[in-house]
This record gives sequence, C-alpha cells and structure tokens, in this order.
Amino acid sequence: MANRTIAVIGGTGDQGFGLVLRWAKAGERVVIGSRQQQKAEDAAKRANGILGGELVSGMENPKAAAAADIVVMSVPFAAHVDMIKSVHDSIQPDDIFIDVVVPLSTAVGGSASSALLVWEGSAAQQAARLLPPKTKLASAFHNVVAEALQRVEKKVDSDVIVCSDSQETRKAVMELATEIPGVRAIDGGRLENSRIVEQMTALLIGINIRYKVSDAGIRITGLP
Ligand SMILES: NC(=O)c1ccc[n+]([C@@H]2O[C@H](COP(=O)([O-])OP(=O)(O)OC[C@H]3O[C@@H](n4cnc5c(N)ncnc54)[C@H](OP(=O)(O)O)[C@@H]3O)[C@@H](O)[C@H]2O)c1
Repeated sequence: MANRTIAVIGGTGDQGFGLVLRWAKAGERVVIGSRQQQKAEDAAKRANGILGGELVSGMENPKAAAAADIVVMSVPFAAHVDMIKSVHDSIQPDDIFIDVVVPLSTAVGGSASSALLVWEGSAAQQAARLLPPKTKLASAFHNVVAEALQRVEKKVDSDVIVCSDSQETRKAVMELATEIPGVRAIDGGRLENSRIVEQMTALLIGINIRYKVSDAGIRITGLP
C-alpha cells in the first residue's frame, strides 16, 4: 500500500462513510472531513469500531484536505461550491481530487430521481472551474450506492466509471476503485463524460423505487 492519506470531505454522510470504510478496510490511511471537528471525530470512532482498527481519523474539512494526498468530495450538490471553496487553499498541486457529487434535483426541492442541468456541464466540471488549475481532478463512484459500500462484509456488485482529462489520474483513481471488492473500474474518458455518469444516478434511484430495491448498480458488458 502506498504511503498516502485519503481525505473524504463529507465522510460523515452516507456515501462518504461507505467509501471511508472500504478504503480503510483495504489498508489505506483515511481522514473523515466534516464542517465540525467533533462530528468528524465521532464518525472516525464509529468507522474504527466497525473495522476494528485505528486507520481512520477525523478533522475539520480544510485540515483534512491539507493532510491528504487524495481528496474526495462527497457532499450534497447544494453544498458543492461552498465545500470546494472551503478546501481550495488546502489542495496541493500534486493532489488527486475525486468528485462524487451528483446534481440531484433535491438541491432545488425536486425529486431524487431527476437530475439538474449544471451550467458547466456537470458537477465535476463545476469542480474543475473552482479548483486550483493543477489539481489532478477525476470524477467517480456516482453509480455505487452508499448502502452497498457500507455493507463491508459483502462485495459491491457494480462497475465504477472514472472520468478525467488526465489519463494518469484516471488510472490512479481506477486503481483506488478496484480496492473495493466486487468493483470493476471502467475508463470513462474525459471529464465532460461525467455529465452522463452523474445523470445515470438519478435513473438508478428511479429504478430502485420502481423495483423496490435499494442497491441497483451498473455493469458494462462486452469488455475484455
Ligand atoms: N448516498 C448515496 O447512495 C450516493 C450514491 C452516489 C452518489 N452520491 C452522491 O454523493 C454525495 C454525498 O451523498 P450522501 O448521501 O453521503 O449525502 P449526505 O449524507 O446528505 O451528506 C454528506 C455530508 O455532506 C456534508 N455537508 C456539507 N454541507 C452540507 C449541507 N449544506 N447540507 C448537508 N450536508 C452538508 C455533511 O457533513 P458535515 O455535516 O459533517 O460537514 C454530510 O454528512 C451527494 O452528492 C450524492 O448525490 C450519493
């Protein structure tokens, strides 16, 4: 395992906490970021209790991002811009930044089974506009449900599509995705494709509702 630290901004929430558990279980050093120090520490304690180790710590978002080599943004779309601004000055040029955010219509009082059209094209492209220019930005993990991530004793039955304008960053994030048992990482190409991947999450939420399940995912067929 590389000697690195992953910070999950919003790691106190459902999706972020699931990613924290999976990466800590794989042996990564993980920091949970929160707007509140105590909330971050409580979530870290909960994660360490579930996993039986001390790989997870908790810090306020800017400190968590400053301590990390990989920063994961996992907050509601309504908070996306503010949370990126809050960690902006903590991001180093070589850091990888992974955006998990889906622009669900809930951000404006609508339904979780529909998505907003984002002015920049996608949440990930919004992040690109706001982050320091040399940040190694990727988007991923939109189509994996929190519930499946948090059931750490079970494999996750889903592909993870990774988008980035940097091939090197895509490769690094794909490797990180495959640390989660059951996940196959798919090269999703350029960051602009994140628009399609993000919108698919709203479709999956609708499928969950119609089929009365909670963890519908995606698999791309026909690949070697
Ligand atoms: N849940 C899923 O299954 C799933 C699947 C795929 C993608 N996603 C996407 O992943 C992101 C996180 O999802 P989630 O379900 O984990 O969200 P969540 O539980 O509602 O929120 C995650 C965390 O965001 C932080 N936050 C910062 N600003 C906030 C604000 N204004 N209002 C509420 N919370 C705020 C909170 O942490 P602090 O209070 O500690 O700061 C909260 O614990 C979303 O963009 C979602 O669309 C979720």
